[in-house]
Amino acid sequence: MTNKTVFIPPIKSQGIKSKLVGWIASNIEGIEFDRWVEPFMGTGVVAFNIRPKKALLCDTNQHIINFYNALKNKEITSVIVRNFLTVEGEKLLKSEGSYYYDVRQRFNEEGNPLDFLFLSRSCFNGMMRFNQKGDFNVPFCRKPNRFAPALITKIANQVENISQIINFGDYEFKTQDFKKTLKEVNPNDLIYADPPYIGRHTDYFNSWSEKDEFELQKFLFNSKAKFVLSTWLSNKYRTNDYIFSVWKDCYVATKEHFYHIGGKEENRNAIYEALLSNFKLKNSITNDELFNRIKNNQSILTTEKIEKIIPVQLTLFDETAIDTLNK
Ligand SMILES: C[S@@+](CC[C@H](N)C(=O)[O-])C[C@H]1O[C@@H](n2cnc3c(N)ncnc32)[C@H](O)[C@@H]1O
Repeated sequence: MTNKTVFIPPIKSQGIKSKLVGWIASNIEGIEFDRWVEPFMGTGVVAFNIRPKKALLCDTNQHIINFYNALKNKEITSVIVRNFLTVEGEKLLKSEGSYYYDVRQRFNEEGNPLDFLFLSRSCFNGMMRFNQKGDFNVPFCRKPNRFAPALITKIANQVENISQIINFGDYEFKTQDFKKTLKEVNPNDLIYADPPYIGRHTDYFNSWSEKDEFELQKFLFNSKAKFVLSTWLSNKYRTNDYIFSVWKDCYVATKEHFYHIGGKEENRNAIYEALLSNFKLKNSITNDELFNRIKNNQSILTTEKIEKIIPVQLTLFDETAIDTLNK
């Protein structure tokens, strides 16, 4: 079965890989594995779209893990989300927006996963940022009518889709550091690692140093499992030299990716995304070959341009229902 739909998770984050998940999936198409392991799951968009039968999904951010465990245990369902956002959304509207800050304070004191969802969907630009004390500190998006019925329906549907994906598979969610996760890996697992970029974020959950990068390399190579790691190759200003030092023994697949600053066409910037691996990916080249391309100033740094169809390993309820109806 093929599917081009990307399922967007209900929790938002600036690091979300929703635009790259098709490319990641196409690069590992046909690879056999027992369990999918993500030491840095973030929003979980990659795992939820690859839809492996079995997965270990971890992050140091306990709020993400608590949210997905609540979906798994059915403490949070699409019906609960709809009711919660309707009630809380009305309070937000009545207060002309100031209620956002009450919820933020409540969340920072109690850590309720429903409050986390409320904040994620009504904060400025859907950002996920925590201060040095570990408190969520993103300001309000300044739209008191944020939780209009159409958005509530959209979020409830996202919760429904992701809950189905989780409940169809055998998924484990754990709050832990990547080193602990990688110690739990078996040789037949496939690891997808998407660590924070060095020096990019100063957020409580996203500090990442050169030492972390070296340790990650050591743990990944020692794990004996196949791994794929997401990083960046180059932007308008510089090249990621770690690819040619820390990751010099890896295969590399790259893709040109455009993003807009402030939504203006003239501010369209290209970044080359990279996938590093310890086995040959569908569109990868060797690290040496990539290095020579850059050294010889060859303009083609993209080893793959076409978005491929996502392989589906699990079927959702409603898709099965549609298939049955079509028979
Ligand atoms: C780039 S984001 C992952 C994005 C994810 N692939 C997605 O598409 O949403 C990196 C994640 O690593 C987590 N993280 C940072 N340091 C960590 C560590 N030492 N161990 C485990 N997770 C960590 C952060 O909380 C963040 O969620």
